[in-house]
Amino acid sequence: MIEVCSISKFFSVVNDKGLAEGLTAVLNVSLLIPDGSIVSLIGPSGCGKSTLLEILAGLQAPTDGEIRIDGKRVLEPLPSTRKEMEDYKRRYRFISPLANGVFTDRPKHDIAMIFQDYAVFPWMTALGNVVFALELRSAGKKRSERSSCAALEEKARVYLGKVGLTGAEHKYPSQLSGGMRQRLALARALSVEPKIILMDEPFAAVDALQREKLQDDLLFLWKEAKDNAAPISIIMVSHDVPEAVYLSDEVVVFSPGPGGTVRNRIPVNVPRPRARTDPEILEIQERIFAVMQYDINQESMYAI
Ligand SMILES: Nc1ncnc2c1ncn2[C@@H]1O[C@H](COP(=O)(O)OP(=O)(O)O)[C@@H](O)[C@H]1O
Ligand SMILES: [Mg+2]
Repeated sequence: MIEVCSISKFFSVVNDKGLAEGLTAVLNVSLLIPDGSIVSLIGPSGCGKSTLLEILAGLQAPTDGEIRIDGKRVLEPLPSTRKEMEDYKRRYRFISPLANGVFTDRPKHDIAMIFQDYAVFPWMTALGNVVFALELRSAGKKRSERSSCAALEEKARVYLGKVGLTGAEHKYPSQLSGGMRQRLALARALSVEPKIILMDEPFAAVDALQREKLQDDLLFLWKEAKDNAAPISIIMVSHDVPEAVYLSDEVVVFSPGPGGTVRNRIPVNVPRPRARTDPEILEIQERIFAVMQYDINQESMYAI
Protein backbone atom coordinates (compact mmCIF):
# COMPACT_ATOMS: atom_id res chain seq x y z
CA MET A 1 0.00 0.00 0.00
CA ILE A 2 1.27 3.44 -0.93
CA GLU A 3 -0.11 6.27 1.17
CA VAL A 4 0.29 9.80 -0.10
CA CYS A 5 -0.66 11.99 2.86
CA SER A 6 -1.39 15.70 2.22
CA ILE A 7 1.64 16.26 0.05
CA SER A 8 2.47 19.82 -0.96
CA LYS A 9 5.53 21.13 -2.73
CA PHE A 10 6.49 24.76 -2.99
CA PHE A 11 9.41 26.17 -4.93
CA SER A 12 10.90 29.57 -4.72
CA VAL A 13 11.53 30.91 -8.20
CA VAL A 14 12.87 34.13 -9.63
CA ASN A 15 10.20 35.99 -11.59
CA ASP A 16 10.77 38.08 -14.72
CA LYS A 17 11.39 41.17 -12.58
CA GLY A 18 14.25 39.34 -10.90
CA LEU A 19 12.36 38.95 -7.62
CA ALA A 20 11.96 35.75 -5.68
CA GLU A 21 8.43 34.43 -5.43
CA GLY A 22 6.76 31.27 -4.26
CA LEU A 23 5.44 28.71 -6.69
CA THR A 24 3.10 25.94 -5.64
CA ALA A 25 3.80 22.84 -7.72
CA VAL A 26 1.66 20.36 -5.76
CA LEU A 27 -1.02 21.29 -3.25
CA ASN A 28 -2.36 19.00 -0.58
CA VAL A 29 -2.53 15.76 -2.53
CA SER A 30 -3.66 12.62 -0.73
CA LEU A 31 -3.99 9.21 -2.37
CA LEU A 32 -4.17 5.59 -1.30
CA ILE A 33 -2.76 3.15 -3.79
CA PRO A 34 -3.40 -0.52 -2.99
CA ASP A 35 -0.74 -3.12 -3.84
CA GLY A 36 -0.85 -4.36 -7.38
CA SER A 37 -3.01 -1.59 -8.78
CA ILE A 38 -2.43 0.66 -11.74
CA VAL A 39 -3.05 4.34 -11.17
CA SER A 40 -2.65 7.10 -13.73
CA LEU A 41 -2.02 10.73 -12.93
CA ILE A 42 -3.45 12.88 -15.64
CA GLY A 43 -3.71 16.62 -16.15
CA PRO A 44 -2.42 19.47 -18.26
CA SER A 45 1.25 20.23 -18.49
CA GLY A 46 2.66 22.05 -15.45
CA CYS A 47 0.11 20.75 -12.94
CA GLY A 48 2.71 18.98 -10.81
CA LYS A 49 2.48 15.37 -12.00
CA SER A 50 6.21 14.87 -12.47
CA THR A 51 6.95 16.62 -9.20
CA LEU A 52 4.62 14.25 -7.34
CA LEU A 53 6.18 11.24 -9.05
CA GLU A 54 9.66 12.42 -8.05
CA ILE A 55 8.50 12.86 -4.48
CA LEU A 56 7.17 9.30 -4.58
CA ALA A 57 10.54 8.13 -5.83
CA GLY A 58 12.36 10.00 -3.10
CA LEU A 59 14.09 12.23 -5.62
CA GLN A 60 12.54 15.33 -4.08
CA ALA A 61 11.41 16.03 -0.55
CA PRO A 62 7.87 17.31 -0.12
CA THR A 63 7.50 20.70 1.59
CA ASP A 64 4.61 19.33 3.56
CA GLY A 65 3.00 15.94 4.13
CA GLU A 66 4.52 12.50 3.87
CA ILE A 67 4.58 9.36 1.78
CA ARG A 68 4.40 5.94 3.38
CA ILE A 69 5.07 2.70 1.58
CA ASP A 70 3.89 -0.40 3.43
CA GLY A 71 3.64 1.77 6.51
CA LYS A 72 7.26 2.95 6.29
CA ARG A 73 7.81 6.63 5.80
CA VAL A 74 9.70 7.66 2.69
CA LEU A 75 12.54 9.78 4.01
CA GLU A 76 13.98 12.84 2.41
CA PRO A 77 15.94 12.18 -0.73
CA LEU A 78 19.64 12.24 -1.33
CA PRO A 79 19.75 14.90 -4.00
CA SER A 80 19.36 18.31 -2.39
CA THR A 81 19.55 20.54 -5.46
CA ARG A 82 17.87 20.37 -8.82
CA LYS A 83 21.24 19.75 -10.48
CA GLU A 84 21.99 16.85 -8.17
CA MET A 85 18.60 15.40 -8.97
CA GLU A 86 19.15 15.72 -12.72
CA ASP A 87 22.57 14.10 -12.36
CA TYR A 88 21.05 11.32 -10.33
CA LYS A 89 18.38 10.69 -12.94
CA ARG A 90 20.97 10.57 -15.67
CA ARG A 91 23.15 8.15 -13.77
CA TYR A 92 20.55 5.82 -12.30
CA ARG A 93 17.72 6.44 -14.66
CA PHE A 94 15.74 3.41 -13.61
CA ILE A 95 16.20 3.11 -9.93
CA SER A 96 14.88 5.19 -7.08
CA PRO A 97 17.31 6.48 -4.45
CA LEU A 98 15.19 4.56 -1.99
CA ALA A 99 15.44 1.34 -3.89
CA ASN A 100 16.86 -1.76 -2.40
CA GLY A 101 20.60 -2.03 -2.46
CA VAL A 102 21.63 1.34 -3.82
CA PHE A 103 21.87 3.13 -0.52
CA THR A 104 21.71 0.51 2.13
CA ASP A 105 21.25 2.90 5.02
CA ARG A 106 17.88 3.92 3.61
CA PRO A 107 14.61 2.09 4.10
CA LYS A 108 14.14 -0.67 1.59
CA HIS A 109 11.49 0.17 -0.96
CA ASP A 110 11.56 -1.71 -4.22
CA ILE A 111 10.88 1.03 -6.68
CA ALA A 112 11.86 1.11 -10.34
CA MET A 113 11.36 4.11 -12.56
CA ILE A 114 10.94 4.78 -16.23
CA PHE A 115 11.45 8.37 -17.25
CA GLN A 116 10.60 9.60 -20.66
CA ASP A 117 13.71 11.68 -21.13
CA TYR A 118 16.26 9.41 -19.57
CA ALA A 119 15.16 6.04 -20.81
CA VAL A 120 18.30 3.98 -21.35
CA PHE A 121 22.09 4.27 -21.43
CA PRO A 122 23.11 4.92 -25.05
CA TRP A 123 26.62 3.58 -24.54
CA MET A 124 25.48 0.14 -23.42
CA THR A 125 23.91 -2.62 -25.48
CA ALA A 126 20.37 -3.73 -24.69
CA LEU A 127 21.78 -6.64 -22.71
CA GLY A 128 24.33 -4.38 -21.01
CA ASN A 129 21.58 -2.01 -19.89
CA VAL A 130 19.62 -4.74 -18.14
CA VAL A 131 22.69 -6.47 -16.69
CA PHE A 132 23.83 -3.14 -15.24
CA ALA A 133 20.51 -2.69 -13.43
CA LEU A 134 20.79 -6.20 -12.02
CA GLU A 135 24.40 -5.64 -10.96
CA LEU A 136 23.44 -2.48 -9.14
CA ARG A 137 20.73 -4.31 -7.28
CA SER A 138 22.99 -7.18 -6.48
CA ALA A 139 25.74 -4.82 -5.23
CA GLY A 140 23.63 -3.99 -2.19
CA LYS A 141 23.40 -7.63 -1.18
CA LYS A 142 25.78 -9.70 0.90
CA ARG A 143 28.54 -11.31 -1.11
CA SER A 144 27.14 -14.79 -0.48
CA GLU A 145 23.72 -13.75 -1.83
CA ARG A 146 25.01 -12.18 -5.03
CA SER A 147 24.39 -13.90 -8.33
CA SER A 148 27.19 -14.80 -10.71
CA CYS A 149 27.74 -12.77 -13.88
CA ALA A 150 26.40 -15.62 -15.98
CA ALA A 151 23.25 -15.81 -13.86
CA LEU A 152 22.67 -12.06 -14.19
CA GLU A 153 23.12 -12.25 -17.92
CA GLU A 154 20.72 -15.15 -18.13
CA LYS A 155 18.14 -13.23 -16.15
CA ALA A 156 18.63 -10.16 -18.35
CA ARG A 157 17.98 -12.30 -21.43
CA VAL A 158 14.77 -13.63 -19.88
CA TYR A 159 13.46 -10.11 -19.31
CA LEU A 160 14.51 -8.94 -22.77
CA GLY A 161 12.55 -11.92 -24.08
CA LYS A 162 9.49 -10.96 -22.05
CA VAL A 163 9.33 -7.55 -23.73
CA GLY A 164 9.96 -9.00 -27.19
CA LEU A 165 13.59 -7.99 -27.59
CA THR A 166 15.11 -11.40 -28.15
CA GLY A 167 17.60 -11.01 -30.98
CA ALA A 168 18.32 -7.37 -30.10
CA GLU A 169 20.56 -8.13 -27.11
CA HIS A 170 23.69 -6.74 -28.72
CA LYS A 171 22.14 -3.68 -30.32
CA TYR A 172 22.77 -0.21 -28.95
CA PRO A 173 19.79 2.03 -28.15
CA SER A 174 20.57 4.17 -31.22
CA GLN A 175 19.97 1.07 -33.34
CA LEU A 176 16.53 0.50 -31.79
CA SER A 177 13.25 2.19 -32.67
CA GLY A 178 11.60 4.50 -30.11
CA GLY A 179 9.17 1.75 -29.15
CA MET A 180 11.97 -0.78 -28.72
CA ARG A 181 13.90 1.63 -26.52
CA GLN A 182 10.89 1.95 -24.25
CA ARG A 183 10.61 -1.85 -24.24
CA LEU A 184 14.21 -1.97 -23.11
CA ALA A 185 13.45 0.52 -20.33
CA LEU A 186 10.53 -1.70 -19.33
CA ALA A 187 12.70 -4.84 -19.33
CA ARG A 188 15.20 -3.10 -17.11
CA ALA A 189 12.54 -1.90 -14.69
CA LEU A 190 10.93 -5.35 -14.51
CA SER A 191 14.22 -7.22 -14.20
CA VAL A 192 14.84 -5.92 -10.70
CA GLU A 193 11.46 -7.38 -9.70
CA PRO A 194 10.19 -4.19 -8.08
CA LYS A 195 7.01 -3.79 -6.07
CA ILE A 196 6.40 -0.39 -7.56
CA ILE A 197 7.08 1.02 -11.00
CA LEU A 198 6.85 4.76 -11.51
CA MET A 199 6.50 5.86 -15.11
CA ASP A 200 6.55 9.41 -16.41
CA GLU A 201 4.81 9.50 -19.79
CA PRO A 202 6.63 6.34 -20.82
CA PHE A 203 4.99 5.96 -24.21
CA ALA A 204 4.67 9.62 -25.18
CA ALA A 205 7.28 9.45 -27.92
CA VAL A 206 6.03 6.20 -29.45
CA ASP A 207 3.75 6.07 -32.50
CA ALA A 208 0.09 5.17 -31.99
CA LEU A 209 0.16 1.53 -33.09
CA GLN A 210 3.33 0.65 -31.20
CA ARG A 211 1.90 2.46 -28.23
CA GLU A 212 -1.17 0.23 -28.07
CA LYS A 213 1.00 -2.85 -28.38
CA LEU A 214 3.25 -1.57 -25.58
CA GLN A 215 0.25 -0.92 -23.35
CA ASP A 216 -1.01 -4.46 -23.93
CA ASP A 217 2.40 -5.94 -23.24
CA LEU A 218 2.67 -3.90 -20.06
CA LEU A 219 -0.70 -5.24 -18.91
CA PHE A 220 0.33 -8.79 -19.79
CA LEU A 221 3.54 -8.53 -17.74
CA TRP A 222 1.73 -6.80 -14.88
CA LYS A 223 -0.81 -9.65 -14.80
CA GLU A 224 1.93 -12.26 -15.00
CA ALA A 225 3.57 -10.74 -11.93
CA LYS A 226 0.24 -10.72 -10.13
CA ASP A 227 -0.40 -14.37 -11.01
CA ASN A 228 3.06 -15.23 -9.67
CA ALA A 229 2.18 -13.65 -6.32
CA ALA A 230 4.59 -10.76 -6.89
CA PRO A 231 2.16 -7.94 -7.66
CA ILE A 232 3.52 -4.69 -9.03
CA SER A 233 1.85 -1.34 -8.41
CA ILE A 234 2.22 0.98 -11.35
CA ILE A 235 1.90 4.73 -11.01
CA MET A 236 1.99 6.35 -14.36
CA VAL A 237 1.90 9.95 -15.48
CA SER A 238 0.08 10.34 -18.76
CA HIS A 239 -1.60 13.08 -20.68
CA ASP A 240 -3.44 10.64 -22.87
CA VAL A 241 -6.94 10.06 -21.52
CA PRO A 242 -7.73 6.85 -23.50
CA GLU A 243 -4.39 5.34 -22.42
CA ALA A 244 -4.98 6.21 -18.77
CA VAL A 245 -8.49 4.75 -18.74
CA TYR A 246 -7.56 1.60 -20.65
CA LEU A 247 -4.67 0.77 -18.32
CA SER A 248 -5.77 1.94 -14.92
CA ASP A 249 -7.78 0.88 -11.91
CA GLU A 250 -8.07 4.53 -11.05
CA VAL A 251 -7.45 7.75 -12.94
CA VAL A 252 -6.45 10.73 -10.82
CA VAL A 253 -7.28 13.96 -12.61
CA PHE A 254 -5.26 17.00 -11.55
CA SER A 255 -6.47 20.55 -11.71
CA PRO A 256 -4.47 22.80 -14.03
CA GLY A 257 -1.24 24.02 -12.48
CA PRO A 258 0.72 25.54 -11.07
CA GLY A 259 -0.61 24.48 -7.71
CA GLY A 260 -1.82 21.14 -8.99
CA THR A 261 -4.17 19.35 -6.71
CA VAL A 262 -6.42 16.34 -7.14
CA ARG A 263 -9.50 17.41 -9.04
CA ASN A 264 -11.25 14.06 -9.38
CA ARG A 265 -10.45 10.45 -8.73
CA ILE A 266 -12.21 8.28 -11.22
CA PRO A 267 -12.28 4.52 -10.64
CA VAL A 268 -12.27 2.25 -13.68
CA ASN A 269 -14.12 -0.82 -12.49
CA VAL A 270 -14.04 -2.66 -15.79
CA PRO A 271 -12.67 -6.21 -15.64
CA ARG A 272 -9.57 -7.04 -17.68
CA PRO A 273 -8.94 -7.90 -20.45
CA ARG A 274 -10.69 -4.76 -21.60
CA ALA A 275 -11.77 -3.73 -25.04
CA ARG A 276 -10.65 -0.25 -26.00
CA THR A 277 -14.08 0.41 -27.44
CA ASP A 278 -16.04 -1.00 -24.49
CA PRO A 279 -18.94 1.48 -23.98
CA GLU A 280 -18.12 1.71 -20.28
CA ILE A 281 -14.49 2.62 -21.06
CA LEU A 282 -15.61 5.22 -23.58
CA GLU A 283 -18.08 6.68 -21.11
CA ILE A 284 -15.34 7.10 -18.48
CA GLN A 285 -13.10 8.75 -21.07
CA GLU A 286 -15.88 11.21 -21.87
CA ARG A 287 -16.29 12.05 -18.21
CA ILE A 288 -12.60 12.76 -17.81
CA PHE A 289 -12.50 14.88 -20.97
CA ALA A 290 -15.47 16.84 -19.64
CA VAL A 291 -13.75 17.55 -16.31
CA MET A 292 -10.54 18.64 -18.05
CA GLN A 293 -12.39 20.74 -20.60
CA TYR A 294 -14.36 22.45 -17.85
CA ASP A 295 -11.13 23.37 -16.06
CA ILE A 296 -9.57 24.75 -19.23
CA ASN A 297 -12.69 26.87 -19.89
CA GLN A 298 -12.64 28.17 -16.32
CA GLU A 299 -9.00 29.12 -16.75
CA SER A 300 -9.63 31.06 -19.93
CA MET A 301 -12.56 32.84 -18.23
CA TYR A 302 -10.20 34.03 -15.49
CA ALA A 303 -7.69 35.08 -18.10
CA ILE A 304 -10.25 37.52 -19.55
N1 LIG B 1 12.83 22.38 -9.36
C1 LIG B 1 11.90 23.28 -9.66
N2 LIG B 1 12.06 24.58 -9.37
C2 LIG B 1 11.11 25.49 -9.64
N3 LIG B 1 9.93 25.19 -10.21
C3 LIG B 1 9.70 23.90 -10.54
C4 LIG B 1 10.67 22.88 -10.30
N4 LIG B 1 10.15 21.71 -10.72
C5 LIG B 1 8.95 21.97 -11.22
N5 LIG B 1 8.65 23.28 -11.11
C6 LIG B 1 7.39 23.94 -11.50
O1 LIG B 1 6.33 23.26 -10.85
C7 LIG B 1 5.21 23.15 -11.71
C8 LIG B 1 4.84 21.67 -11.91
O2 LIG B 1 5.84 21.06 -12.69
P1 LIG B 1 5.79 19.53 -13.14
O3 LIG B 1 5.66 18.69 -11.93
O4 LIG B 1 6.96 19.28 -14.02
O5 LIG B 1 4.44 19.48 -13.99
P2 LIG B 1 3.90 18.36 -15.01
O6 LIG B 1 4.74 17.15 -14.90
O7 LIG B 1 2.47 18.14 -14.58
O8 LIG B 1 3.95 18.98 -16.36
C9 LIG B 1 5.59 23.85 -13.00
O9 LIG B 1 5.08 25.15 -12.93
C10 LIG B 1 7.09 23.82 -12.97
O10 LIG B 1 7.63 24.90 -13.70
MG1 LIG C 1 5.91 16.17 -16.40
